[in-house]
This record gives sequence, C-alpha cells and structure tokens, in this order.
Amino acid sequence: MSAPKPMTQEALMSAFGGESMAHTRYLVFAEIAESEGFKNVARLFKAIAFSERVHARNHYKTLENLNVDAKVVAGAPFGPGNTSKNLELAIRGERFEVEEMYPVYVEIAEKQNEKAAAQSFRWALEAERIHASLFAIAKEYVERGEDMPLEGNVWICPTCGYTSIGKTPPEKCPICQLSGSYFASF
Ligand code: FE2
Ligand code: FE2
Ligand code: FE2
Repeated sequence: MSAPKPMTQEALMSAFGGESMAHTRYLVFAEIAESEGFKNVARLFKAIAFSERVHARNHYKTLENLNVDAKVVAGAPFGPGNTSKNLELAIRGERFEVEEMYPVYVEIAEKQNEKAAAQSFRWALEAERIHASLFAIAKEYVERGEDMPLEGNVWICPTCGYTSIGKTPPEKCPICQLSGSYFASF
C-alpha cells in the first residue's frame, strides 16, 4: 500500500490535528465541568474526548506509509471559560466538522479513490453529528444552572467513535458493525 495522494494526505493530517486538539480540549472542559458540579456534563466531555481520540488514531494510522515531518494546519475554538461557554465552543467545533470539514474531506478522498481515508472521514462525520446534538442538549440544561440527565452510561465505539447513551451499549455499532461488547463506557 502506498501513501495517500497529497490532497488526501493534507486532509488527513489536518483532521488528525483537529481531532487531537478536540481530545485535549474536551478533557480540559471536563475538569471545569467537574469543578462547577456538572458531573454528567463532565462525563459527557470525557466520553467524547475518547471518541475524538479514536478519530485521531484512525486518521493517523491511515498515514502509516509515510516517514516525514510535517507542519499541520488545523483550526480550533480558543478561549476556555465556564461550562456554558465551553459547550458553546464545543458545539461550534462539532458543527464546523459536520457542515464543512468532513463532507469536503470525504469528497476529496472519494474523488482520489483513497478508500481508507474516505472511511476514516465518514466514520468521524457520523460521530460528530451525535456529538453536536448531545452538547446542544447539555447546553440547554447548563444554561438553567442544571446538570444534564444521563440515563445510564455514555458508550463509545473504540473502532469508529460512535457515541450512544443508555444502560447498555447497542448490540452492534450502527456505523462500523463492531460488537457492542467492546464499547468503552463512561
Ligand atoms: Fe472527532
Ligand atoms: Fe466530535
Ligand atoms: Fe463503530
């Protein structure tokens, strides 16, 4: 297997940078939520941080045939604040990925016939949609000064980052078909 074509390569590197930063950012947001008493929002941030790490890992591994140093350009919302503001930053980041970044990256990878990269981008796109809506729900509660209700655990697919909430994981991941018994719980 050869390295992906340059345009796809650039998209993978940038997405790796973006996901790595999101991973760290959500862990910071989790600490802040914890300190403000929003235990469930903190749990959601920790779980989704893991999902972003899964995406970063997948993008990074798709570049396994390279042996280069590169500078990565990737955007991130800056300026952590209280949990309400952090959720706003998180929603903005997720929506950018869902509405602009990943649809374009999927298209680039598909046009270049880079199947592994296209799958890595598609898997992330599906998970980010869920992240955006979960953060939006959390924000409604936090704005009223309440923690969000979480029935059960937050479950993350360790293969594709699919995120669900419930007492048990899904039987099978609806995105990558991995058995739910492998899901990580938060
Ligand atoms: Fe992600
Ligand atoms: Fe996300
Ligand atoms: Fe999955």
